[in-house]
Amino acid sequence: MGSKACVLVVGGAGYIGSHACKELHRRGYDVVVLDNLVYGHREFAKWGEFVLGDIADPLQLKLVFKTYPIKAVMHFAAFAYVGESVTDPQKYYLNNVAYTLNLLQAMRGAGVDKLIFSSTCATYGNPQVIPIPEDHPQAPINPYGRGKLMVENIMADYAQAYGFKYVSLRYFNAAGADPEAEVGEWHDPETHLIPLVLRAALEPDKPIKIFGTDYDTPDGTCIRDYIHVTDLADAHILALEYLLAGEKGGVFNLGNGQGYSVREIIETTRQVTGRAIPVIEDKRRPGDPARLVGSSARIKSEFGWKPQNIEIERILSTAWKWHSRA
Ligand SMILES: NC(=O)c1ccc[n+]([C@@H]2O[C@H](COP(=O)([O-])OP(=O)(O)OC[C@H]3O[C@@H](n4cnc5c(N)ncnc54)[C@H](O)[C@@H]3O)[C@@H](O)[C@H]2O)c1
Repeated sequence: MGSKACVLVVGGAGYIGSHACKELHRRGYDVVVLDNLVYGHREFAKWGEFVLGDIADPLQLKLVFKTYPIKAVMHFAAFAYVGESVTDPQKYYLNNVAYTLNLLQAMRGAGVDKLIFSSTCATYGNPQVIPIPEDHPQAPINPYGRGKLMVENIMADYAQAYGFKYVSLRYFNAAGADPEAEVGEWHDPETHLIPLVLRAALEPDKPIKIFGTDYDTPDGTCIRDYIHVTDLADAHILALEYLLAGEKGGVFNLGNGQGYSVREIIETTRQVTGRAIPVIEDKRRPGDPARLVGSSARIKSEFGWKPQNIEIERILSTAWKWHSRA
């Protein structure tokens, strides 16, 4: 084992968690991944130890904390299909909320009081101002966002009652891939725009659908904030170091601060890949706000976080390298 603290990464075989593991390992932390592989990939857990396990299982969690000298936890494990959360809320509240309580209970039992949590801009609901700051009202419009907000509230109560220290990171749209293409975005099914546009570049029989071309935006399509996954991973390390230094934590947005429209993503993908991208224009989907862009001023000033991959060309070219690998 390495020289710095041992970190348990729950959901570390998934897209964002695996990038965090790579960064932890690179910076000398010991990594233990716990993942049930429901959506994760065994080959993504290549840094540190791997435990095939589920946060639904309190005994297994207890054993993990007994086996490894864990000092802090990064919690990525969740189901994250917003549409499915509407049709099957029980699946989401059980996994994302109830099983998170098992994790918190096991942490308390083992005397581990530092947690970094994957929250989401979906806790805000429809934005009243752009860019969205952390003190924007939280009024989520689907069970996925409501469950994440519940966990934020639970963590605040644990902080108050038990002296628990946590950082909740509200991600906007994670995008891109590790520049070495060792890991990348691999969801099945895939619902995120960038991997779907790249798939359309690779497989012309799978055109990309644009949902709504009549929004009040310069080109009529929705605008979103894309944050590079390596910059996300970097923010996790800064959050970890902040907690390990004895700070009590807080809530931070993680976005690029710049919005890109669906058409801009498609056009830039054409340029980056040199491929034709077949497009189908469809009607709006319910629940899609015209713009979702976050302010990350707080994490920049408190942690000195400096995203390195803010250009959309860079985000798309790292994603393309991963998706088009042999
Ligand atoms: N991808 C995004 O743009 C985005 C945006 C905002 C928030 N988030 C949040 O970030 C986190 C990671 O997202 P991702 O895109 O990497 O998702 P992902 O599905 O790739 O990773 C989640 C991992 O958690 C594992 N997992 C799920 N339930 C588990 C359980 N009960 N026990 C053990 N492991 C379990 C899955 O197998 C998977 O490997 C999630 O909590 C998600 O809600 C993601």
